[in-house]
Amino acid sequence: MKHYLQLLAARIPAGRYRHCLGVADTAADLAVKHGADAEQARLAGLLHDYARDLPPAELLDLAEQAGCITCDLERRLPVLLHGPVGALLLKRDLRITDPAILQAVARHTVAAPAMTALDKIIYLADMIEPGRQFAGVRAIRQVAAADLEAALLKAMEASIIYVLDKGQPLHPATVEARNYILLARGGF
Ligand SMILES: [Fe+2]
Ligand SMILES: [Fe+2]
Repeated sequence: MKHYLQLLAARIPAGRYRHCLGVADTAADLAVKHGADAEQARLAGLLHDYARDLPPAELLDLAEQAGCITCDLERRLPVLLHGPVGALLLKRDLRITDPAILQAVARHTVAAPAMTALDKIIYLADMIEPGRQFAGVRAIRQVAAADLEAALLKAMEASIIYVLDKGQPLHPATVEARNYILLARGGF
């Protein structure tokens, strides 16, 4: 873990590094609370924004080469690709081979249908780590201790509302991810 801390500190700005430490701690904590692997969650949380500070053109290039672009919105807003590109670079440059970690990193920005417990933990930890401040974050933190999926829904909804407020198109994966959980849970 120390090796990754040093690598990350050298690669990303201080503010982002603090965010990543917050996500790592929050993810490990959520994993303990919800019966997942805490060390796996900590590492995925620590490394989730590995590609977040790459220039948009580079994100786009790497994603094009890897064939991992799923819609035109990603071409217009390449920052949306920092999850899948991050997973790619973690595998290529850091030799991270755990497919569960790579998938959770890939899915942390726009989510996906049929998320695993680790996918959910990383998406949620990214939204509610102690450095995050937005209306409703406290309520989501409270729900997260008892019901991971309910908190995830609230986090996705906060993210969807943020995108709507900015007048931007929604990424279809986020809508699909929310629908998938709602259909599985019922009660609407
Ligand atoms: Fe991110
Ligand atoms: Fe993040």
